Amino acid sequence: MEKQSNVLVAPSILSADFTKLRSEVELAEKAGADWIHCDVMDGMFVPNISFGPMIVEAVRRCTDMIIDTHLMIADPDRYIKEFVAAGSNQVTVHQEECKHLHRTIDFIKSCGVKAGVSLNPSTSVSMLDEILPDLDLVLVMSVNPGFGGQKFIKNAIEKIKKIDQARQEVNPDLVIAIDGGINPDNAPSVVEVGATALIAGSAFYKAPDPFEVVTKFKSISVPTF
Ligand code: DX5
Ligand code: ZN
Repeated sequence: MEKQSNVLVAPSILSADFTKLRSEVELAEKAGADWIHCDVMDGMFVPNISFGPMIVEAVRRCTDMIIDTHLMIADPDRYIKEFVAAGSNQVTVHQEECKHLHRTIDFIKSCGVKAGVSLNPSTSVSMLDEILPDLDLVLVMSVNPGFGGQKFIKNAIEKIKKIDQARQEVNPDLVIAIDGGINPDNAPSVVEVGATALIAGSAFYKAPDPFEVVTKFKSISVPTF
């Protein structure tokens, strides 16, 4: 038996054309995306600089979609408030950058938004053992963060399986997002092991038909037992 996966789709504006930000955000919305993913990079945690709260605030004025803010920045505690004030609905920090992850997650939630933690490809899922019940979202990186358009790293599949198992035991509402090198060809392999949100930059914004990309993501089926 198979059923529709109902996977959430989140285009990343990192791959959008910033000379026409409004229409690029609207394109995601019209294509049927659920979230718009904002990749914030500081040139410290990752070797690239993208944008800050000002762009997130501009995105907020273009759409009512959920703004999913991915902070790839050093010591993210310093800027959580600003990204919430800019209109983020969910804020994800990197485990590798948080000395007091529990406090950071508490703080994000106290700002009235959903809280997520991201893991680099080399970071073990076991780093989340103690915090998983408190999270709204885990974001598994399937590329080393910093750039769009990289190739999918396959160890993400085993990591999703482990998180999915833990989700069933301690946090059934947890969203498992996958980010990096996702396209309609490899998306079924992550959805079938438990990914519930697909983040896609180049596969969406560089596609000849971005609507078709969302349709393909949305039509992924998962086995039922
Ligand atoms: C990478 C970012 C991703 C990126 C994905 O550091 O976190 O969100 O935009 O881009 P693609 O889908 O092109 O790999
Ligand atoms: Zn991202």
